[in-house]
Amino acid sequence: MNREQRKLDHIQGALTTGFSGNSGFDCVTFVHQSLPKCDVADISLQTEIGELTLSSPLFINAMTGGGGNETFNVNQRLARIAKETGIAMAVGSQMAAVKDERQARTYRIVREENPDGVLFANLGMDATVHQALMAIDMIEANALQIHLNVIQELVMPEGDREFSRVLHQIEAIVKAAQVPVIVKEVGFGMSWVTARALHEVGVSAVDVGGFGGTNFSKIENSRRTRQMTYFNDWGIPTAFSLAELRLSGVSLPVLGSGGINDPLAAVKSFSLGASAVGIAGFALRTLHDSGDEELLGELNNWSEDFKMIMTALGAKNIAQMKNVPLVVKGDLYHWLTERGFN
Ligand code: FNR
Repeated sequence: MNREQRKLDHIQGALTTGFSGNSGFDCVTFVHQSLPKCDVADISLQTEIGELTLSSPLFINAMTGGGGNETFNVNQRLARIAKETGIAMAVGSQMAAVKDERQARTYRIVREENPDGVLFANLGMDATVHQALMAIDMIEANALQIHLNVIQELVMPEGDREFSRVLHQIEAIVKAAQVPVIVKEVGFGMSWVTARALHEVGVSAVDVGGFGGTNFSKIENSRRTRQMTYFNDWGIPTAFSLAELRLSGVSLPVLGSGGINDPLAAVKSFSLGASAVGIAGFALRTLHDSGDEELLGELNNWSEDFKMIMTALGAKNIAQMKNVPLVVKGDLYHWLTERGFN
């Protein structure tokens, strides 16, 4: 199975059956404010991820790996939408292009389309320092995402089986890179202990990439004959991951993603400490089912909705969102209690 075909299978899987339904945000309820101390006009959506400033707390997360014409096409369309809306965008894994220069145009197009935009390069946890620097350089990236996808690799018959040196490798990349390194999961969530380990080796930010949205166990299982279905419900829901990182006091910037399919889930992520949220599956499905204009409209609507919800909560900016009153209930309450945060 070649890399390009596998990545096209991923897109097909993400569009059809490859997602789960609950990222845990229904366990978070905001406490209604009858006298919020702000006006809609007061709201600023600007946010910081360490040294990076984003004009919007919403970004398009990594989806376009593998190279080839289809990837080029999706990258170009997403880059135009990112430019038009002013939101940041990650490309998918650039490993194909790092290994074969002919594929580099598939990724360079995002910088050509959006010369002044905030772009994240992307590679897997097997990347070498040299490959990481090539990926950053290829799109003049403002940050590099390294994705952790152990479960996906295990479910892939041709996937990696060696993970013990990943943290060490990430440390080497962090030391060599001239831009911030963001380490992300791909839909299985991240515990606070993992986030702390990444912080200790100098990672600039983590993206919890939680359970509840795109499900790479389901996607990879559907490509196998003997399925590892026990991984289909595996992972930490996005809201749970964000909440435990917040309560653990890990102090690096945190991003939320994994099943962020509506503006309320995004704003709940901000209240649980996320400085920004990434959308992948939702963006892909909207682009595929309804087209570029519809996705552009959705992203603009989300920004308007953020302002409405933040006004209702009396939070003038993303930093203030971290202090809005909320109640956690149900499985999230249980999770936090069991994890020692009571
Ligand atoms: C992804 N994702 C991903 N992540 C990454 O770091 N590098 C990659 O190459 C890819 N490729 C990819 C392809 C497709 C088709 C999808 C849908 C997703 C994972 C993505 O960035 C994100 O972490 C997860 O999809 C969870 O977010 P959503 O989809 O639930 O919003």
